[in-house]
Amino acid sequence: TPALRVTEWSDVAAGWPRPGPAAEKYTRGVVGLATGSATYPGAALLSVGGALAGPTGLVRYAGSARAEVVRRYPSVIATDRVADTGRVQAWVCGSGLGTDAPAATELRCVLASAVPVVLDADALTLLVDGSMAERLRRRDAPIVLTPHDREYARLCGEAPGGDRVGAALKLAAWTNAVVLLKGDRTVVGTPDGRAYVNPTGTPALATGGTGDVLAGLLGSLLAAGLPAARAAVLAAYLHGLAGREAARHGPATAPDVAAALRTVLAPLTADP
Ligand code: APR
Ligand code: MG
Repeated sequence: TPALRVTEWSDVAAGWPRPGPAAEKYTRGVVGLATGSATYPGAALLSVGGALAGPTGLVRYAGSARAEVVRRYPSVIATDRVADTGRVQAWVCGSGLGTDAPAATELRCVLASAVPVVLDADALTLLVDGSMAERLRRRDAPIVLTPHDREYARLCGEAPGGDRVGAALKLAAWTNAVVLLKGDRTVVGTPDGRAYVNPTGTPALATGGTGDVLAGLLGSLLAAGLPAARAAVLAAYLHGLAGREAARHGPATAPDVAAALRTVLAPLTADP
């Protein structure tokens, strides 16, 4: 069994990408989201909300929930399709995207980019189609997969089972991607056999849409330049803290979790 790291707050604080005096929006990172659909516009809003809470200077959105996203978040630059989007430094794809042919086109566009990507939800379902490991292996830039147990089972043909660390490592080795296996103790496994357990999870997060918030936050961390494994570990940790923070005020919803990320990150964001 591999050495298992448990994340701590000091892991977050060390090297957190704080904006310096000469900060500029583009140098802070640009994250793109190919999420949501006419059926699930909420997934777009939640993933964008997670991304806006992160350290990046600019958030772009590409997809069918364009109008809703800009109405709710005027600072987001939105287009209809990934192909029409300006430069991004990391993509998040899949949350609420759907699995129809246009969704598959968007996923292919994201995978064809040369930047780190987060694949969540429907993107994981689309990957089940045949040559998936091959398609992922062919990418040079990092990939993070964020399956919950049913998404994992669909991809791997079997449920994660009791050995969640082993399960995450197996999918990571197969796909050459970092795997963030969600659950009450979220596990991150890397293709080179490192494994991390997140201690901050809370059942307060067991409510629809919190996974979309996590995917957006993770994309922001990748766009800010964090290595994939570190981004995944920190995103899970901060997401758990935000769930706890949100639950202090009553039963938390996913938008509450996105808002609580700001409170959690305040100590790292304020001027020293
Ligand atoms: N303890 C700690 N964390 C938990 C717990 C728990 N008991 N239950 C869930 N979580 C966390 C997970 O670790 C993850 O970060 O909440 C998040 C849930 O994410 P998802 O499983 O992706 O769920 P989400 O996408 O937000 O919403 C449900 O998933 O299966 C689909 O069709 C379904 O659209 C629905 C969506
Ligand atoms: Mg989900």
